Amino acid sequence: MSSISPQQLSAIATEFGTPVYVYNGEKIKEQYQKLVSAFQGIDTRFFYASKALTNIHILKHIDSLGCGIDCSSINEVKLALHAGVKPEKILYTSNGIAFEEIEEAVSYGVHVNIDSLSNLEKFGKKFGNSYPIGVRMRPNILAGGNLKISVGHEKSKFGIALEQLDILKEIVTAFNINIKTLHIHTGSDIKDPDVFIAGIKVLADLVPHFTDLQVIDLGGGFKVPYEPDGEETDMAAIGRKLKNYLETHLFQSGKKYQLWFEPGKFMVSECGYLVTRVNVLKESHSVVIAGVNSGLNHLIRPMFYEAYHHIVNISNPTGEEKIYTVTGYICETDTFASDRKLHEVREGDLLVFYNAGAYGFEMSSNYNSRYRPAEVFYNNGTAKLIRKREEWSDLLKNQVPLR
Ligand code: LLP
Repeated sequence: MSSISPQQLSAIATEFGTPVYVYNGEKIKEQYQKLVSAFQGIDTRFFYASKALTNIHILKHIDSLGCGIDCSSINEVKLALHAGVKPEKILYTSNGIAFEEIEEAVSYGVHVNIDSLSNLEKFGKKFGNSYPIGVRMRPNILAGGNLKISVGHEKSKFGIALEQLDILKEIVTAFNINIKTLHIHTGSDIKDPDVFIAGIKVLADLVPHFTDLQVIDLGGGFKVPYEPDGEETDMAAIGRKLKNYLETHLFQSGKKYQLWFEPGKFMVSECGYLVTRVNVLKESHSVVIAGVNSGLNHLIRPMFYEAYHHIVNISNPTGEEKIYTVTGYICETDTFASDRKLHEVREGDLLVFYNAGAYGFEMSSNYNSRYRPAEVFYNNGTAKLIRKREEWSDLLKNQVPLR
């Protein structure tokens, strides 16, 4: 299993400063290969959900592996194109967007999944059957790590409600729209392979209604092990079960469909490390606080989703283990971890947050007028800066100067 050693992380911190996000290109490759081998024998394509991490160097690396890129905004589409990804390898799964973005995506020639009846109707009026399109359905499946990242349930804003199939079909018929793809995405942090079987069953019922259909897109959501003894989704089991389902239920008519996935976390979560330095240590009877030079402005997952991120003091690997609360420097409750066992922490030590590749930098902000960290790409033994640390001018660049 490919990882970056504490010594290498420490050297990167010395060279590029802290806080710094570090991404391991070989780990991304390893994850992609797991996906490919799990679905061998099934015509499958993967589109990395770039919302997890959009640095153009990462997009280029993932493109070079053969993987496509999934986007959730027109700017992500433009970043992928900018990184040199060919339009046919880009998928835009939209939600709640203005029709103009769909028109723009069509002008680039990328695959598009539409997720509302109103945008589908506008699409039909403008493009008729000239541009094959996908529709995102709401499968009414509750799945995922927590409610904030469960998006396929019956009160979700995502997708077209299954109950509205008749209206959907009326629109498709009225404008002769070529529905190439049926799409669902139920949530993130899904461990149970049967959720994907439940998903394909929902879509299988819809298949007969769409004669132009070529693709079944089951979205992303595969779980990664955040805790040291945590489990990741058993991809081989999903591959086996889906293959079996496709062969016994969907391919019997003689028509075959391509299977698409949009993995985000599975591709880039474990490749990423956030390396921070301890600013202050506060020891009292009730608690020992280790405060680092980062915060929820750089890694919001613990505060926003109560997510667990493994933390290691790489500066004192043989120090006595003690219990700490690890906090950030943002001026409100900003706790990365409570009651966490770490090797003795001293001011100036480097604390590393693991599994920080997905939705880490990408959800960062300038809260408290702090700079966003630098990003470093580590591949084949070489570390390369792929995003400069922000600086003073970045905070002012869009503020109209004072007279
Ligand atoms: N496809 C669609 C349409 C999505 O909305 C998402 C994620 C994915 C694929 C990729 O899901 P993944 O494989 O990464 O689980 N910020 C949250 C996760 C939000 C996921 C949003 N949609 C977190 O940090 O846990």
